[in-house]
Amino acid sequence: MEAIVAVYADWGIGAKGTQPLVIPADRKRFRELTDGCAVIVGRRTMEDFPGGRPLKGRVNLVLTRQDIAIEGAAVAHTPEEALAAARNYDRCFVIGGDSVFRQMFPHLSRVFVTKIESTPHSDVFFPDLDADRAWRCVAEEPRAEHNGVGYRFCVYERI
Ligand SMILES: NC(=O)c1ccc[n+]([C@@H]2O[C@H](COP(=O)([O-])OP(=O)(O)OC[C@H]3O[C@@H](n4cnc5c(N)ncnc54)[C@H](OP(=O)(O)O)[C@@H]3O)[C@@H](O)[C@H]2O)c1
Repeated sequence: MEAIVAVYADWGIGAKGTQPLVIPADRKRFRELTDGCAVIVGRRTMEDFPGGRPLKGRVNLVLTRQDIAIEGAAVAHTPEEALAAARNYDRCFVIGGDSVFRQMFPHLSRVFVTKIESTPHSDVFFPDLDADRAWRCVAEEPRAEHNGVGYRFCVYERI
């Protein structure tokens, strides 16, 4: 299972239910990588998408404990149910948020990380893969900048 995440310099990933600083090139890369794939997403993160709707062009597997139907998405009530549904697709990305990353972390073997060289206040964090000896960075693109903020696309794999 793969994940994709944008982290700030402290591995923060968001505050008050949203991402305080967004890099357009990161959003573009997210779209390109996940296009045509399945994504596992928490109900709260889905509500932070444009219009609070599932992502177009992807199979959205939305985790919720509620007995609800979501137009344009398949609902999963447990992580196991989401993982089972994901097996029906060639490629599936875990795309957050915090609670979903945490619960899916043991199943992850590759993570596409956008490292953003800024530290806006975060109240949720992704595990620091640089500090975890079970993970190594296997690919790193050259540093780029947006409005004076540096960022870098990296790929980590579980050893
Ligand atoms: N930087 C990034 O790349 C990135 C990416 C995505 C999100 N984020 C950030 O992550 C934060 C949101 O994370 P979050 O943890 O608050 O929300 P979340 O993980 O997106 O969604 C939480 C919801 O998922 C459902 N859920 C979670 N575990 C479940 C389980 N075991 N079984 C069934 N349903 C389950 C529940 O929905 P119900 O309440 O409906 O039951 C729960 O309230 C935001 O700050 C967002 O900006 C950052």
